[in-house]
Amino acid sequence: MINRVLDLLRATEAAAIAASAWIGTGDKLGADKAATEAMRDRLNRIDTACKVVIGEGKKDHSSGLFAGERVGKLAGKKDTEQYELAVDPIDGTRPTVTSGPEAMSVLAVAHEKALFTTEAPYMFKIAYGPDIAKSLDLGLDDSIEKMVKLLSQATGKNPERIVVCMLDRPRHEKMISEFRRLKVRLKLIQDCDISGAIATCLPESGIDLLYGIGGAPEGVITACAMKCLKGGFKARVINQDGSPTDSKVYSIEELVKGDCAFVATGITNGSLLKGVRFTSRGPVTSSVMMRSQSGTVRWITSFHGN
Ligand code: FBP
Repeated sequence: MINRVLDLLRATEAAAIAASAWIGTGDKLGADKAATEAMRDRLNRIDTACKVVIGEGKKDHSSGLFAGERVGKLAGKKDTEQYELAVDPIDGTRPTVTSGPEAMSVLAVAHEKALFTTEAPYMFKIAYGPDIAKSLDLGLDDSIEKMVKLLSQATGKNPERIVVCMLDRPRHEKMISEFRRLKVRLKLIQDCDISGAIATCLPESGIDLLYGIGGAPEGVITACAMKCLKGGFKARVINQDGSPTDSKVYSIEELVKGDCAFVATGITNGSLLKGVRFTSRGPVTSSVMMRSQSGTVRWITSFHGN
């Protein structure tokens, strides 16, 4: 399954196309339901047996693909290799229904018992690209000042040229002030920190670091993408009230053991992917798919029939 990423791509494409009908409608539940059903339908047509272990987040009032659901044509069959899925039919429900940027449909696959799971809703995350990861091991508990100094050394850029991507949330107020005090440039995003993390691995994005608290399911999916891209990623699990569940810092390997693959399809236009476009011949989608074992990253434009 991990080698048959094209099958999985069909699932994120279907979810993105379904979600795109809800762009600008203001109806988060409707969008989520449509994307979830489309993703489930596609996954159930694949000759495989998968268990969803990271499903729709507890903080979303979503209609399905929750942890524990089995999908794939061979689901439930004995003597069949089992895989684990982490899915987010819409990462960016709000930007989808408000015609905002960066919404995409994502999923990651790994072997059985490979993916980390938690009941807690959030993770404090740092993500950085492969060039920095080669020379640096940034610590989640490093002070912002130390992190900026290390990043500056590793990239050869003055702090004024370093770009840090963060979710624009009141909980990040102090961190934002500290980055501003150090004259670091901030890219404040309204949603979609998976895309923010992946951007650190793409030199043309100009983003050096993703920093701050975002969804826990998105954290595990991000770990899969960062593993494929050979970037750096660390996370701590965070409760609803913003307190850490414990002091443990998780590495990529602890969040996803062994090989994995990651697939995403744009719903609305974003820095990584174009959103779904409709032509007279049918929808056109933009996706990325990657595998950790080979390190292949494929950017795919698909023309779907009517
Ligand atoms: P959903 O669209 O799946 O709800 O997630 C959007 C998102 O922005 C994630 O990318 C991010 O990790 C999380 O929500 C942040 O949570 P919150 O909005 O509660 O700060």
